[in-house]
Amino acid sequence: MTQTQAAAEPFAARAKRRAERMFGQWGVFFRGFLKHPTMVGSIIPSSRFTIDKMLAPVDWDACKLFVEYGPGVGTFCRPVLDRLRRDGSLIVIDTNELYIAYLQRETRDSRFSAVLGSAADVEAIVRAHGHEHADYVLSGLPFSTLPDGVGPAIAEATWRVLRPGGAFLVYQFTARARDFMAKHFHRIDAGYEFWNVLPCKLFWGWKD
Ligand SMILES: C[S@@+](CC[C@H](N)C(=O)[O-])C[C@H]1O[C@@H](n2cnc3c(N)ncnc32)[C@H](O)[C@@H]1O
Repeated sequence: MTQTQAAAEPFAARAKRRAERMFGQWGVFFRGFLKHPTMVGSIIPSSRFTIDKMLAPVDWDACKLFVEYGPGVGTFCRPVLDRLRRDGSLIVIDTNELYIAYLQRETRDSRFSAVLGSAADVEAIVRAHGHEHADYVLSGLPFSTLPDGVGPAIAEATWRVLRPGGAFLVYQFTARARDFMAKHFHRIDAGYEFWNVLPCKLFWGWKD
């Protein structure tokens, strides 16, 4: 739909279309949870308070490549694309084929790539997209319920893929991720967001 068509659309029809899109997104998220509950780890996407707080420390002018692990149905994707420079790129990586198919279908932005795969393979994925390093990596992964060894492997690969001065942004219901991050990231800022289901912990690990 063009901007002119959208402006001419009656309010009720616009509200209905928005509701369908929202429930469609929640429906896909819930179906993905039923398929792989421990890999998804939550039945409700993150709140806008979590999104704003998590992204606040990012220096967007200096961000050419932003990578996200576990985008789900894309709760963070539009907010990241809205802030990202015009020549920047956003690569999202998820193991759930339902979510990746949904994101590829719904996110029309030339800066966006959705990859079916594991965050543990981030270095190969970043290289395959023509980049040497990422400026920022965001994670919504449920570190506490990932299979043994996967969390530490992801933290290590993330450290390697980041450029000096870049950061690993992590939100989680527990502090488990921080244990994995601390092996590599010596400066970790911490925060908390109450207005989220469930309230969650936020970490920013800086590669000084
Ligand atoms: C709690 S959901 C996060 C949803 C979304 N980011 C949000 O904030 O609403 C966790 C996501 O991590 C994905 N995931 C789990 N293990 C993964 C891995 N090793 N690599 C990439 N994604 C993974 C799941 O498929 C799921 O989409």
